[in-house]
Amino acid sequence: MSKAQKLLNWVDDRFPLTALWESQWGKYVAPKNFNFWYFFGSLAMLVLVLQIVTGIFLTMNYKPDASLNAAGVPVAFASVEYIMRDVAGGWIIRYMHSTGASMFFVVVYLHMFRGLIYGSYKQPRELVWVFGTLIFLCLMAEAFMGYLLPWGQMSFWGAQVIVNLFGSIPVIGPDLSVWIRGDYVVSDATLNRFFALHVIAVPLVLLALVVAHLMALHEVGSNNPDGVEIKQQPKDPATGLYLDGINSHPYYTVKDILGVVVFMVVFSAIVFFLPEMGGYFLEHPNFDQADPLKTPPHIAPVWYFTPFYAILRAVPSFAGTQVWGVLAMGAAVVLIAFLPWLDRSPIKSIRYRGPKFKIALTLFIASFIGLGILGALPPTGLRTALSQIFSVVYFAFFLGMPFFTKNDVGSVPVPDRVTDTNAKRQIQFLVMVALTVFLAALFAMNV
Ligand code: HEM
Repeated sequence: MSKAQKLLNWVDDRFPLTALWESQWGKYVAPKNFNFWYFFGSLAMLVLVLQIVTGIFLTMNYKPDASLNAAGVPVAFASVEYIMRDVAGGWIIRYMHSTGASMFFVVVYLHMFRGLIYGSYKQPRELVWVFGTLIFLCLMAEAFMGYLLPWGQMSFWGAQVIVNLFGSIPVIGPDLSVWIRGDYVVSDATLNRFFALHVIAVPLVLLALVVAHLMALHEVGSNNPDGVEIKQQPKDPATGLYLDGINSHPYYTVKDILGVVVFMVVFSAIVFFLPEMGGYFLEHPNFDQADPLKTPPHIAPVWYFTPFYAILRAVPSFAGTQVWGVLAMGAAVVLIAFLPWLDRSPIKSIRYRGPKFKIALTLFIASFIGLGILGALPPTGLRTALSQIFSVVYFAFFLGMPFFTKNDVGSVPVPDRVTDTNAKRQIQFLVMVALTVFLAALFAMNV
């Protein structure tokens, strides 16, 4: 027996290390037909780790202090400039963190979209989905509070606008917004508490939720592009696995590593060549220090919040209160959690659904993108009207779902076995490898 094996045995006698690895990954039996859409769960975990690690290093030099230094610059803003200009490697750590924030949402939106098209939220994965929605909520809170920290113009005014919204809630609103800010305006007190929540409280909750998300998933088993429940199949006597199951390790370990490589090429290209992404990842007004006396002409949240912001703006204020807009924005997020119960179709995958669901999903995605674009632009009469139409489509998708999913059957029946052939999977794998080599070569030539 090798020394490493002896050490592992020693640990296993005292702590279930091998058992944990095998139950959560090593011997986790997954359907064998995972495709492109199944890259984003592991990528979300990667970005979570990236954000935590880069965040720790940023914290070593960042100062949550809104007071002005001798040069009349807020200390927090100056500390970010210091990280970018004077700290060794500071610029790359900061750009990784700011790019990571946007990429987190890219990855999570695609991950959620996969759930939508393959019905992964349906029985028995309701809790996987509900934990996912809670993760999404936490992620939004985390990004919102992180955005205040550089104490730029958009940090300040964005927080001001959003916290003021809470003030429109009847009875408790005004006190609630003062309680959130710790002051009557966004101030040093707000900066300090957002810092505390951003670096420790919310990440802890996020980590716990991700553990719960994965435990729930591994309890029920993964869905797949055909929506076939592999656990209902007999086991192959030769392998002891369900007929369409394979061990995650080494098969999906290799697949996920490929996803990580492609992702890192794209991520590095952004960090090195396009860290501001034309003002979408780092907004231009945020390169100016926060000035409570100067409101920027156009206040818009970062791109990943714009669909929900557009819904907020689409609802007109009644009797001088914006509360209905706030409620609509909240409902737009909360409704996502109820999908498992709104969808009444027994069919999971879009491959076997009827035309009604396909049309509804297409309209929903178009309206979500439309809202995202409109939420980033200053409002005009036409844009507000369009936002209103898209908001109606957005809500109609959820509220109409119990009706259009009932009796909506596709022309091809749901199969008993997964349909993708080995040859098809091999071709997909080769295309991915070729793409990676191509991207890496392009990247290397530029560097
Ligand atoms: C930090 C954020 C998240 C992380 C790290 C994460 C991680 C994962 C991982 C590793 C898997 C298994 C691999 C895979 O199926 O791709 C998974 C599956 C899943 N996730 Fe997430 N997730 C996150 C957010 C979300 C959100 C926001 C939702 C939905 C609201 C969601 C819904 C699901 C569902 C339904 C599955 C099962 C998919 C299937 O079996 O087809 N996740 N997640």
